Amino acid sequence: MNKKRILITGGAGFIGVNLASKLLENKNNFVVVYDNLSRKGTENNLRWLLSKKYKDLKFIKGDVRDYKKLKETARGCREVYHLAAQVAVTKSVDDPIEDFKINAEGTLYTLEAVRKASPDAIFIFASTNKVYGELLHLKLKEGKTRYILTDKKNGINEAENLDFHSPYGNSKGVADQYVRDYHRIYGLKTVVFRQSCIYGEHQYGNEDQGWVAHFVIKSLLGNKINIYGDGKQVRDLLEVSDLIGAYLLAVRNIEKIRGEIYNIGGGPENTFSLLELIEFLKKILNIDIKYDFSDWRPGDQRIFISDNTRLKKELNWIPKVSKEQGVRKLIDWIGDNIDIIKKTNSK
Ligand SMILES: NC(=O)c1ccc[n+]([C@@H]2O[C@H](COP(=O)([O-])OP(=O)(O)OC[C@H]3O[C@@H](n4cnc5c(N)ncnc54)[C@H](O)[C@@H]3O)[C@@H](O)[C@H]2O)c1
Repeated sequence: MNKKRILITGGAGFIGVNLASKLLENKNNFVVVYDNLSRKGTENNLRWLLSKKYKDLKFIKGDVRDYKKLKETARGCREVYHLAAQVAVTKSVDDPIEDFKINAEGTLYTLEAVRKASPDAIFIFASTNKVYGELLHLKLKEGKTRYILTDKKNGINEAENLDFHSPYGNSKGVADQYVRDYHRIYGLKTVVFRQSCIYGEHQYGNEDQGWVAHFVIKSLLGNKINIYGDGKQVRDLLEVSDLIGAYLLAVRNIEKIRGEIYNIGGGPENTFSLLELIEFLKKILNIDIKYDFSDWRPGDQRIFISDNTRLKKELNWIPKVSKEQGVRKLIDWIGDNIDIIKKTNSK
């Protein structure tokens, strides 16, 4: 039988390896992981994936800026998950050109490669809530441990104005719009997910990106946490298995939702401020956690909560893993891998 060939760019990253292992549970799938292994921790992730000895997994070391190689790789694919990216706002500020080349140009090359090599493939893109910018117009109250939205009780929906802020916001925003437009202009079967804060196993979080994992790692190592801003900024947390559930639902319902864009996150029930996550960790780990403060980072939203209403209505999707369950699971994974994480992050 002909297996379904599926391409994951950035497939050795945090979301990528979780997605690959989920897809490989289905014996009809053949998964191609395409990654340049530039992110710290990706080699460990890849080793973990390969150690499972899947017969239907192929790794290709490649860059999304290499159009020719992408096109060869995309040939025969029926699904493409485009996850490869420069993922840190901080790094994008340091080197906006590199960031643009990977996120904006790299996405255009990936779209074009799929259009030329496999025009019927389904194309799922991992965008970000950063396309909405700093959201300074939101009505907020300052509480003791967090900012509170006084309107938009369900969070921010897809009707919010685009307002790219930071080179990362710009490069992902450009990519987000290209992906939607490849549906309109070329009929590609695309879906864009504007993701909130995603967390879970295989996430090598650091100060630049992956703050939940970063806070857990620092806490378990007994290191001080540096908070940018006042720590009252609020994020909605989505455990990676729930995100993957939405990707798979999108694929199953592609005829209904092709060309669409969805916000996706933990929603109003799964929010933590930075200070509140530290308090939660102190309580469940039964330790003291030290932290101090420095200046806000560019484009840092005081609050972001994803309004998941459209996803619920159109795909019957809601997050299943609560923030407490998810963070406990992450603590277990980090605890089991703390030596390798320490070594990787200090390289
Ligand atoms: N994790 C989150 O909270 C979050 C939130 C919003 C959006 N996203 C998006 O989701 C996607 C996956 O994020 P993640 O958290 O798994 O990050 P990650 O850094 O773990 O994964 C990204 C992967 O892309 C690879 N990569 C980077 N540059 C590349 C290039 N030029 N060519 C090929 N591969 C390259 C990296 O080696 C890495 O494996 C990204 O597009 C990111 O912007 C993530």
